[in-house]
Amino acid sequence: MNVTVFGIGYVGLVQAAVLADVGHNVCCVDVDQKKIDDLKNGIIPIFEPGLTDLVVDNFKKERLQFTTDAQTGVDHGELQFIAVGTPPDEDGSADLSYVLSVAGKIASIMDSPKIIINKSTVPVGTADRVRSHISDILSMRGLDISYDVVSNPEFLKEGSALEDCMRPERIIIGTDSEDAEFLMRELYEPFSRNRDKVMIMDVRSAEFTKYAANCMLATKISFMNEMANLAERLGVDIEEVRKGIGSDSRIGYHFIYPGCGYGGSCFPKDVQALERSAREIGYDAKILKAVEEVNHSQKEVLFHHVKSFYNGKSLAGKTFAVWGLAFKPNTDDMRQASSRVLLEALWQEGAKVQAYDPEAMEEAQRIYGIRDDMVLMGTKEAALHNADGLIIVTEWKSFRVPDFEKMLEELKDKVIFDGRNLYDPKRVEAHGLSYYGIGRGRSIIKKQ
Ligand code: UDX
Repeated sequence: MNVTVFGIGYVGLVQAAVLADVGHNVCCVDVDQKKIDDLKNGIIPIFEPGLTDLVVDNFKKERLQFTTDAQTGVDHGELQFIAVGTPPDEDGSADLSYVLSVAGKIASIMDSPKIIINKSTVPVGTADRVRSHISDILSMRGLDISYDVVSNPEFLKEGSALEDCMRPERIIIGTDSEDAEFLMRELYEPFSRNRDKVMIMDVRSAEFTKYAANCMLATKISFMNEMANLAERLGVDIEEVRKGIGSDSRIGYHFIYPGCGYGGSCFPKDVQALERSAREIGYDAKILKAVEEVNHSQKEVLFHHVKSFYNGKSLAGKTFAVWGLAFKPNTDDMRQASSRVLLEALWQEGAKVQAYDPEAMEEAQRIYGIRDDMVLMGTKEAALHNADGLIIVTEWKSFRVPDFEKMLEELKDKVIFDGRNLYDPKRVEAHGLSYYGIGRGRSIIKKQ
């Protein structure tokens, strides 16, 4: 099938590459000339395992093309994906201007029937707005061309986006048109071979499903973080509790890992946006507000642990090794990352950091520039050198089996603050190190 994808960011590029890989002809359109030129030269703007090979391979096979020319894109596909960003407005609600602008562009160019598919995460009712925007433009042009607007939210996770896209658990399609349903089923047929993954529902329900899914997951995390904070103060080890409750199949083991808060481009934005949408219709979404509030303070927990360890004294002159800058492993993304809250709080106190992240160091440099109090180190071991303590922010695999003897040798204050509960406290302490995780019952907070 001929498919066009507008917006070659994270979601758009992954979706385009995966559709091309199963044999569709995909035209990618973006307004950013440099990005398009880079993609043609095999330079991929984001880090995602396997993506470069997939893009380069399908570009060579001419199943994937890149252009800044909207006319080429609109002419190319009967199916037109909109995968542009929906950044938060000043008040936290989703800014739809990019989505509407692409829809307007398609309407002002199209001269044959099209299916417009919204892939971006958008509030309930957006498809209706897109539909009427297109209709206004077509009637201004004096044209009567048939078109459908479909909602098809993505559920991909950074770091495993290709896998999520190639082997989705479900494909949600919101439409009330039989023609659109037929074409969408055909498009996704290669992904539904083992079992039918396509779920057809009305457009508004599809739009809401995406928000409800992300908010549910964020709720699980904030709930566990609250339990961890209680465990901390009650002398309970949350990791034992996690296993204990996870074994109940109604609860399950997924997404109940306590830590130093969730970040990324989706959870913080989507929880906020749904809470704002609720407010607009006069509903007070108490759980969503609490989820956000808990997460906000959870990002400060590591810093509080550090402060408590030093009995509230100033951290000026201290140097901390920081392992992990990305908001989660297998990505270089630092959007809303807990590391940023930690770094900024440490700097505010006059402390220095020696940071190491397997992928996100360039990103840290881009965000913070060159500064005396942030030294980016080539290896995790180098980051320990002459540091007072170690702070772990991201659960990269390579941090899971550390050399505790080396830590003991290098860390002046012989202390580890672990925001992701990577180690067994008894094992670390047996090496002569102090160890403070999240909710491990070590009650470091009492020292404040
Ligand atoms: C998320 C959703 O999982 C995905 O379905 C949606 O399409 C986009 O948003 P992503 O933001 O890539 O994906 O990351 P995810 O793996 O979900 O992790 C989000 C954050 O939650 C990370 O900061 C992670 O460290 C944190 N997390 C996750 C926890 O703190 N505890 C957990 O148990 C799970």
